[in-house]
Amino acid sequence: MSTPAPVSTSAPAARKRVTTLTFRQKKERREPITMLTAYDYPTAMAMDKAGVDSILVGDSLAMVVLGYDNTLPVTMEEMLHHCRAVSRGAKTALLVGDMPFMSYQVSVDEATRNAGRFLQQGSMDAVKLEGGRERADAIRSITGAGIPVMGHLGLTPQSVHQLGGFRAQGKTAIAAKRLLEDAMILEEAGCFSIVLESVPARLAELISNRISIPTIGIGAGAGCDGQVLVTHDLLGLFDRFTPKFVRKYADFHSEMQRAFAEYIEDVETKRFPAQEHTVEMDDAEWDALLKEINHRH
Ligand code: KIV
Repeated sequence: MSTPAPVSTSAPAARKRVTTLTFRQKKERREPITMLTAYDYPTAMAMDKAGVDSILVGDSLAMVVLGYDNTLPVTMEEMLHHCRAVSRGAKTALLVGDMPFMSYQVSVDEATRNAGRFLQQGSMDAVKLEGGRERADAIRSITGAGIPVMGHLGLTPQSVHQLGGFRAQGKTAIAAKRLLEDAMILEEAGCFSIVLESVPARLAELISNRISIPTIGIGAGAGCDGQVLVTHDLLGLFDRFTPKFVRKYADFHSEMQRAFAEYIEDVETKRFPAQEHTVEMDDAEWDALLKEINHRH
């Protein structure tokens, strides 16, 4: 087993803000792009200090924070609320807000207006939306308004019912060709990057080599230009299930349960609060209080 690298918690040397240009330069230099999801201020702050390139306020919020079975119920207002919290915690990472189900599918105008809200009201730098060729017009309109768009192909969770479940995509030659075509269409429509989720590693590598914008993989192998994981999976915070492609770097769910049980035990056995957790009062003030209340009653 390798020795864990030391982690610095002191203030990092000033890093330059990551932009969509940084994404492109990293691809050109073949430097992997790192991305993680966050939904709150302290988590965003910790990963920003750790040096992550980009933070996605994913609509996975619906599942890992709000407890829904899929991503469909989360609303624009809920997404914006969490975007604002993340933006207050992150100083250098490129911030991407995930457009929720039905915020961009109905019309190009609505898609553009809602994308704008992510920058104006959510303090995001870019938006992400799911789908291939059927989204090209919306992507053209949003990027035309000066808003960077990240595409999302392969397993697109907002289409879970149409896909027949959370299943890997692009496994047949026909489906793989369609995915490659979609990636090229998204690039042409103006996306600055594309998430590839749950597709065969060799297909993701082929797509990454055929387009000039960076691909960010999740369950798509090492041939992508960058990687993203849902932070609650990486930290072991979400105990319902862990997708096959996740590497768990911690087991925070068990650790939280242990800490909560210890707290309950300490309160029940009166080991908490101890002397050091209590507020003191001067003897003179205490005596004055006793004199006052005893005098009166
Ligand atoms: O919502 C999300 O967290 C995502 C990632 C899985 C890429 O879209």
